[in-house]
Amino acid sequence: MNVLVIGGTGTTGSLLAKLLPHARVGTRKPVRDGQVRFDWDVPATFGTALDGVDRVYLIPPVGVADPAPVVESFLVRARLVRRVVLLSSSAVPESATGMGALPALVRTMPEWAVLRPSWFMQNFTGDHAVAAGVRDGEIVTATGDGRIGFVDAADIAAVAARALTDPLPHNTDHLITGPEALSYADAAAIITELTGRPVAHRSVSTEELTGRLATWLPPEFAVILAKLDEDIRGGAEDRVTSTVLDVTGRPPRSFRDFFRGFLS
Ligand SMILES: NC(=O)c1ccc[n+]([C@@H]2O[C@H](COP(=O)([O-])OP(=O)(O)OC[C@H]3O[C@@H](n4cnc5c(N)ncnc54)[C@H](OP(=O)(O)O)[C@@H]3O)[C@@H](O)[C@H]2O)c1
Repeated sequence: MNVLVIGGTGTTGSLLAKLLPHARVGTRKPVRDGQVRFDWDVPATFGTALDGVDRVYLIPPVGVADPAPVVESFLVRARLVRRVVLLSSSAVPESATGMGALPALVRTMPEWAVLRPSWFMQNFTGDHAVAAGVRDGEIVTATGDGRIGFVDAADIAAVAARALTDPLPHNTDHLITGPEALSYADAAAIITELTGRPVAHRSVSTEELTGRLATWLPPEFAVILAKLDEDIRGGAEDRVTSTVLDVTGRPPRSFRDFFRGFLS
């Protein structure tokens, strides 16, 4: 089997590439053996990236309001691909356009799986706005006391690896969470305890968050992201699933273990 990992340098893709060392890593700037140029903005890169490939981990173009047309044109080119595993999100319902239109496209492939992870634990580390809040001592959201089944991207990658390589195709959606639903205040308390440095959570109104996000994001994305926080405040992400255990045979990592690992 020959796997192409789109977004293979990113949060889930890089972890998946470690689990599948023979996979081809798609990146806009290939520098190493095993990497191939792949750019959603340059369809001419699709053919070479797909050459000899029969399975694809598909991360849609990031920050594109309606990725369906370009993803569809990619899948049309992927005639020899048997199996596609799409990274979607627990917060994206099926729809006629936008991100929500992608699962229907992927289901046209002979074999498929749609991953719907909840929020990544990695948002608390690295470049994400929540991570900046951790560093500043105050995480600002519009989530109130709403809880989220934060999941380690390594667990998402483990589910993806099984969905790509299991002899039988999964042909289903996988709603993926960590082992517990936590509010941002809960997560901040765990970080405070582990680091000894106070980190608090401050919940603001949806409108205030929209304004804050719009200082560094396109206004339409600021609205979308703030609305997701509002949904969390209403309980939309307050759930846990057994997907990681069911698919990989081992339980998902807790937030405490994840952050302890990050610190070590
Ligand atoms: N963060 C969360 O809590 C969360 C929760 C659920 C779902 N998700 C989903 O996860 C996905 C990505 O998450 P992320 O923020 O962690 O991103 P990411 O996977 O870390 O990074 C984006 C990846 O996409 C590649 N990329 C960027 N622009 C590209 C282009 N034009 N063509 C081809 N590849 C391109 C980058 O590779 P190069 O720079 O090497 O080209 C990089 O590997 C999103 O679809 C999001 O909806 C996120």
